[in-house]
Amino acid sequence: MTDSPLVPPLARPTSGEATHDSSHGASATSAASVLLEARSLNKRYRKGGAVIDVLRGASLVIKKGEVVSIIGASGAGKSTLLHTLGTLDLPDSGTIHYGGRELTSLSPSELADFRNRELGFVFQFHHLLPEFSALENVMMPALIRRLPRQDAHDRATRALNDVGLSHRIEHRPGELSGGEQQRVALARALVLDPPLLLADEVTGNLDERTGEEIHELLFRLNSTRGITLIVVTHNRSLADRMSRRLVLHNGLIEERA
Ligand SMILES: Nc1ncnc2c1ncn2[C@@H]1O[C@H](COP(=O)(O)OP(=O)(O)O)[C@@H](O)[C@H]1O
Ligand SMILES: [Mg+2]
Repeated sequence: MTDSPLVPPLARPTSGEATHDSSHGASATSAASVLLEARSLNKRYRKGGAVIDVLRGASLVIKKGEVVSIIGASGAGKSTLLHTLGTLDLPDSGTIHYGGRELTSLSPSELADFRNRELGFVFQFHHLLPEFSALENVMMPALIRRLPRQDAHDRATRALNDVGLSHRIEHRPGELSGGEQQRVALARALVLDPPLLLADEVTGNLDERTGEEIHELLFRLNSTRGITLIVVTHNRSLADRMSRRLVLHNGLIEERA
């Protein structure tokens, strides 16, 4: 990390004109513009002769600034759906429009660039690189974007500060608690200011209080930055605090009041 190659600076992208007019996803009721639209997603897995139809025509529309939960039984396909929306995995059929662009027809390198510019991901497991410090882990997406090293450093410092970890930036993941590791993962997801954050059971491995703190952080990000949140959870009380709840059932997405 300390001797990463010299890379040319890139101008800051003009991505995601996210509206910053929401609080806790309250803009769900306003005429906010559409950020993400998935239509008729189908996804089938084959495993040892068995066929699993995980998504069977799932559709959804997410507006800028919304806070949306996705709930569903274990194995219902929530992670598959989130990975598909985030283009980590492509659907067998169906379309995903984001900011006017259709994603499923982009090339792998275009998709990687799209993810780097538009999305933050946080997973149940933090996926931090163990041999790097918290700061270096958080700098990583910015270095991948080829931002100048000082800029990456400053952004990472800010992001770690935003998640309350400014006193731990030199620690490696193994020297941090589970909650702190997830905060680092969250800071890494936020370091490039993505318009959309996808979170998959991010507090599944944390005790209740630590999980609650992470949830508060997520909500604060929405109200202060207008970041759009799609949160997979099986924590019902968390889901109940969001402006929209979607249920994934039998491969389809249903809106729940
Ligand atoms: N890469 C894969 N290969 C084969 N089957 C998979 C794969 N990923 C997920 N599945 C299966 O698809 C179903 C949905 O999985 P998943 O999306 O992880 O559900 P959830 O996140 O709701 O628990 C499960 O039956 C799972 O075993
Ligand atoms: Mg899952």
